Amino acid sequence: LASLHEAEVGARFDSLVDRFKRELPASDARLDAVVRNLPEIKNPLVLDLGCGKGRFARHLEARGAKVVGLDLSANMLREATGLSCIRASARQLPFCNACFDVVIAVECLEHIHPIDQVLFESRRVLKPGGRLIIVDKNALSMNAQRPWLPSVFVKWIDERRGLWMYPADSQVREHWFIPNRFKRQLARSFESISIDYLMTNQELNHILFRYLPVTRLMTCWTATVPGGRA
Ligand SMILES: C[S@@+](CC[C@H](N)C(=O)[O-])C[C@H]1O[C@@H](n2cnc3c(N)ncnc32)[C@H](O)[C@@H]1O
Repeated sequence: LASLHEAEVGARFDSLVDRFKRELPASDARLDAVVRNLPEIKNPLVLDLGCGKGRFARHLEARGAKVVGLDLSANMLREATGLSCIRASARQLPFCNACFDVVIAVECLEHIHPIDQVLFESRRVLKPGGRLIIVDKNALSMNAQRPWLPSVFVKWIDERRGLWMYPADSQVREHWFIPNRFKRQLARSFESISIDYLMTNQELNHILFRYLPVTRLMTCWTATVPGGRA
């Protein structure tokens, strides 16, 4: 079942490849969260799960990191030029144990269900003390255009109208995350879990998002593999 799910996700990204941007402004809130949470290691080795066209990876390399990008979609990877990339599933990482300093996943886990195997594999390939940085969508957020409606409700309607990533009749859906529930899931295998609610440009001018961070859509979770040097 998981491989059928993955086949559909890969095929969707292959066919919708032109919808996704290849570049990212340096001021992007998600990029800022990833950079802020990088451990203080010179030239860390980073694995980017669901790297897409490599827009996060390129920024990290410009800051001195060495990044390996991994993605299911051949068409997305074709545009990740200038990076070391591999076509594979985040559920089965083709790397040895304890070889990366950091694993990042930006808006990738929402396309994988369930994600237990990805967390297991991420922990396996991270060194002791290594860091997992996840940026994904908050299931408790409110819609930036209509802040009186929950984002998941707007998504539900749009999915049925066929306006979302996957066709209306597809079994595959994006799964968003309840921040504290996901934090507890991470705490089963990692330590020092943090949650950071990110402010996007669309949310910037509304008082709700400014004063109630849990209503923001983009969220960054970080988690550390136990056993690092104190
Ligand atoms: C919304 S895109 C995000 C791309 C990139 N992180 C960015 O923000 O520019 C999600 C990416 O995750 C990839 N993806 C989804 N499921 C995956 C899986 N099981 N293993 C590896 N990549 C996956 C998709 O192919 C797609 O390129």
